[in-house]
Amino acid sequence: MNILITGCAGFIGFHSTLKFLNEGYKVIGIDNLNNYYSPKLKNNRLKYIKNKFKNNFKFYRLDLEDYSEIKKVYKYYKIGTVLHLGAQAGVRYSIENPEVYIKSNINGFYNIIELSRLNKIKNFLYASSSSVYGNNRTYPLNEDFNTDNPLSLYAASKKTNELIASSYFNIFKFKSVGLRFFTVYGPFGRPDMIIYKLFESIYFKTKINIYNNGNHFRDFTFVDDVTEYIYRLLKNRSKLKNGAEILNVGCGNSISLKKIIQLVEKITKSKLKYKLVDMQLGDVIKTHSDTSKIKQITKYKAKYNYVEGINIFHEWFKSYHKI
Ligand SMILES: NC(=O)c1ccc[n+]([C@@H]2O[C@H](COP(=O)([O-])OP(=O)(O)OC[C@H]3O[C@@H](n4cnc5c(N)ncnc54)[C@H](O)[C@@H]3O)[C@@H](O)[C@H]2O)c1
Repeated sequence: MNILITGCAGFIGFHSTLKFLNEGYKVIGIDNLNNYYSPKLKNNRLKYIKNKFKNNFKFYRLDLEDYSEIKKVYKYYKIGTVLHLGAQAGVRYSIENPEVYIKSNINGFYNIIELSRLNKIKNFLYASSSSVYGNNRTYPLNEDFNTDNPLSLYAASKKTNELIASSYFNIFKFKSVGLRFFTVYGPFGRPDMIIYKLFESIYFKTKINIYNNGNHFRDFTFVDDVTEYIYRLLKNRSKLKNGAEILNVGCGNSISLKKIIQLVEKITKSKLKYKLVDMQLGDVIKTHSDTSKIKQITKYKAKYNYVEGINIFHEWFKSYHKI
């Protein structure tokens, strides 16, 4: 069983690679190891995978834009499943750097879905995002809600992926599953995201801005729940009703940022020094996923609440930074 995972050196890609290797798959991974955040962290993730699994993992440093090189990877391996996670992430970065979102998230997505179609890939799953919901004010956010009003180019690029996937089913009958991830966190997590930043600020005294004066709410989803959902989706693919399926991948609880700050202060026994700032352009105020669809298909319910998950992250953070 061969699975191609793009963005395998990224946060969710790393955990997905480990999950599928653990389940006996051979993983072919692609990533360009860009410097949006620490390439050292990306390399350390790759080292961790290679140390744990001597065989069954093959890595290619390639850009999603490089159609002809990626085509060779598809030709060389008999791939049954593609998990497309490689993308330029981040809402705020998309305001300053719009071009890379078009290149990596739209052109890159086209390359992967087109090669997957041409190579008759049986299972094609790709990362969308909760950001496609924009400022929908009815909670929990349901897959059937209107998503025509993205607040950032990042959200627009993810919505574009969903539309392209839908057209590929309509034209070519090429099936896909779009995964709308909700604020994923956990060990080896992303340094540009809030949970990492809070601990970094506590231990390394880095400056931190708390946007929207701390009045944000997020559906924090622990990464092991995410990989479990992805794995089970593959196992239960016959239960998917739509050719171009869209699913929320969340925990199903919305937690305020203020509560997260209190928890971090409690478990580190420290007081956080932060600057309260206004809402940033592109940000959504609240996310809260309706997870009934994915729960029903996978017969799984996210099992980590934010207190457990953040404690696990804290232990990893201390050991990774030798604190
Ligand atoms: N982490 C979250 O909370 C979250 C939420 C919603 C959606 N997502 C989506 O899930 C996916 C994985 O997110 P993540 O948190 O692991 O992000 P990440 O940035 O850690 O991982 C993405 C990986 O893709 C690679 N990449 C980017 N552009 C590339 C290109 N042009 N060619 C090759 N590789 C490239 C990066 O080097 C990185 O390692 C992304 O598509 C992201 O948009 C994540």
